Amino acid sequence: MTATGKPARSAWSGKWAFILAAAASAVGLGNMWRFPYLAAKYGGGTFLLTYLLLVFTFGVSLLLLETALGRLTGQSAIGAFKQFGRKYAFIGILASAVPFIITPYYCIIGGWVTKYAVAYLVDGPAALADGGGFFTGFITSDVESYLWMLVFMAVAFAVVALGVKGGIEKANLFMMPALIVMAVGIAVYTLTMPGALEGALYYLVPDFSKFSPELVVGALGQMFYSLSLAMGIMITYGSYLDRKSSLTQSVVRVGGFDLGVSFLAGLMIVPAAFVAMGSGEAVAANSGPSLMFVTLPAVFADMGGAAAAIGFLFFLLVLFAALTSAISLTETCVSIVQDGAGWSRRKSFAVVIAVVVVAGIVVNMGYNGLSFIEPLGAGTSLLDFFDFLSNSVVMPIVALLTCVFVGWVVKPKLIIDEVERSGPFRLKKPWTVMVKYIAPVLVVVILVAYVAQTFGIVTF
Ligand code: PHE
Repeated sequence: MTATGKPARSAWSGKWAFILAAAASAVGLGNMWRFPYLAAKYGGGTFLLTYLLLVFTFGVSLLLLETALGRLTGQSAIGAFKQFGRKYAFIGILASAVPFIITPYYCIIGGWVTKYAVAYLVDGPAALADGGGFFTGFITSDVESYLWMLVFMAVAFAVVALGVKGGIEKANLFMMPALIVMAVGIAVYTLTMPGALEGALYYLVPDFSKFSPELVVGALGQMFYSLSLAMGIMITYGSYLDRKSSLTQSVVRVGGFDLGVSFLAGLMIVPAAFVAMGSGEAVAANSGPSLMFVTLPAVFADMGGAAAAIGFLFFLLVLFAALTSAISLTETCVSIVQDGAGWSRRKSFAVVIAVVVVAGIVVNMGYNGLSFIEPLGAGTSLLDFFDFLSNSVVMPIVALLTCVFVGWVVKPKLIIDEVERSGPFRLKKPWTVMVKYIAPVLVVVILVAYVAQTFGIVTF
């Protein structure tokens, strides 16, 4: 307990712990499978350049806004907004809904990845490369798919149970460097495959004829998800940060790190898939879960003696990325309940576990017992629905409300002052323009584009 009588809040042990944790949250499934397929689809280098620009303007601005708001208020999302008036609490509530929507389905995909890593050792590479039968059989299974989800959840929960310093920081300190080493190693290995260089050129060389509004919309949506923005995570993480650590430097590093890993993931996956399919268009056409769970196992199976090791290491790497993100999601849920209900960390954690497990089971039933529910049209699942709801609807709305709130209600000066407490903020003018004008307009564009696409009004 603190002097104010409130339960003591968690805290990072320093700036680097914060940077690592924010990067660990950001680097996840979004980097590993979504980014490579988008890059392949939108003409490689052109997409890379657009994405780079967006991350270092829009992305980093919003990261800064959220972490500063968290540090200023010392609260997670709901409390942070409520501090400025009860009527603003709804923005925090909406943001807080996002981790609760994402965590269950993220753990289901985490379970798939865990299963694959183990299957490379137990069943061997050939068993996984059977044109999709293995994948479909597994995700629709009545018992196994649930078990692996629960295994994944158990690991993530165990780390969160050990607390911010004892669990999250230590897990990140081990998993993040391991992730980088594996990513570099596998990228180098896949680049030496015959024909891979052509794939690498496709990935790296900009083809400006592929530039289109859809590319920008795709890159924007990816940036939000990948940087874990608009869901209260960075507000919570900022609230654990001390007043000495420079915010501007930290957020630029987080953005750069996330971008670097996405780039590496593309370098690992695009050339490999290119070898298997012969063209960038074919790679793009096989996007989504199938790129990682069906196409890549086929590529790995052709690697002869190295197949089992490469397959295992690849999925272990994806598993680490997914785990660190799931940990951040769970931690945010706990922090929201703790601050919102005023309960102890223990009790809040127990409630979060119950909710996530039950929701996970229900969403997973979308592939077997409840597969007759096709919320977004034929062939779609409950998982697709929750993914759509969080990424394409709630997150853009939260981002819009947050920018309007800071830009027009409490005014940017408040955040600028908080940033300047711990170091100079040279770009405060462009940042203000970004938050007041550019970001809200861009967000409205993504929102309209995504919803229109899902309901078939336009196709990208
Ligand atoms: N940013 C993570 C990724 O790229 C996903 C994530 C979303 C993590 C929301 C936490 C919260 O996979």
